Amino acid sequence: MRNLKKNYKILSIESSCDDTSASVVVDGRIVLSNVVSSQIDIHTLFGGVVPEVASRNHIMAIDNVVKKALTDAKLNLRDIDAIAVTYGAGLVGSLLVGVSFAKALSFATKIPLIPVNHIYGHIASNYLTYKDLEPEFLCLLVSGGHTALIKVKDYLHHEVIGQTLDDSVGESFDKVSKVLGLGYPGGPIISKRSEQGSDNIEFGKIHDDLGYNFSFSGKKTAVINYIHHLEQKKLDIPVNDICASYQKWAVEDLVYKTIKATKEFGFKTVVIAGGVSANKLLRERLKCECEKIGVRCLFPDLKYCTDNAAMIGSAGYYNILYGKEFADNNLSPNPSLTLFDEIN
Ligand code: KG4
Ligand code: ZN
Repeated sequence: MRNLKKNYKILSIESSCDDTSASVVVDGRIVLSNVVSSQIDIHTLFGGVVPEVASRNHIMAIDNVVKKALTDAKLNLRDIDAIAVTYGAGLVGSLLVGVSFAKALSFATKIPLIPVNHIYGHIASNYLTYKDLEPEFLCLLVSGGHTALIKVKDYLHHEVIGQTLDDSVGESFDKVSKVLGLGYPGGPIISKRSEQGSDNIEFGKIHDDLGYNFSFSGKKTAVINYIHHLEQKKLDIPVNDICASYQKWAVEDLVYKTIKATKEFGFKTVVIAGGVSANKLLRERLKCECEKIGVRCLFPDLKYCTDNAAMIGSAGYYNILYGKEFADNNLSPNPSLTLFDEIN
């Protein structure tokens, strides 16, 4: 364990997809500022994230976003002890903007640089929300890029218990929403539409034969086939019912396997992380099932569910506190950084 001074202030930068974000976090837990510049309005025009457009907009936003993070925290660069930056996974052009900016800033100011895996950032969003939360616990990671059950053994050591074999759950929400013509990002839209619908359509069962692994590609195809079938017959498409039924199917699969793993491995705490952790039904259902077996169930504050730099500041702090190396100026983005690259 490294001996870090008290009130260790990290300026963190996140630009892996379509949000440009910067934050100042103290001692890995206290958020002094968290600025997020979203590009949703721009990408909505195209029905999804256009990588080239995303990186151009990061370039335009990043300087002001970082300045605002410092201003909101009432600090300047002299007060900062380290700069943390997401270097993967994500879109290469988007990551490149954050990494290049952070490297240049670190080089010019001699403030050390911490490389952060985006996935560990999502897990750390729970440390920001629950000041008393410490490993070990089970994390259901549900982002746009990943769906996995991860045993968080300590701040640096993780074990993947199960993961998706194809699409992530977030990706499947986005695709179903697109086919229904509802827009991007699909998760929040489907969640909203579900409230006006009924979950009366049975698309299929939970894949119990996959153990702790998930599959969302087949589920998404089942829904698309259902919609095409109705279209061919020139029947009305019950959009809200499709949303409610798909959401229920996806959520029940996630909850079923999370509870199964909780019981089998004897976890006392379950946390959710990633964009889909904002989903109301998932929160309600997991909480309810955890209560039945006397397990603590935690979700990140809504502002830390989707991509943000505060979670990167927290993950960065624990990386170096527990002995990981700072980055040198050779740091480059790794768009396909996986759950396994840093699991040891
Ligand atoms: O973690 P995130 O912000 O980005 C990645 O790291 O991928 O997750 C984005 C994903 C998108 O697929 C989006 O549709 C989904 O999170 N999402 C939701 C909700 N809010 C965002 N899915 C379901 N319900 C929500 N309320
Ligand atoms: Zn993310």
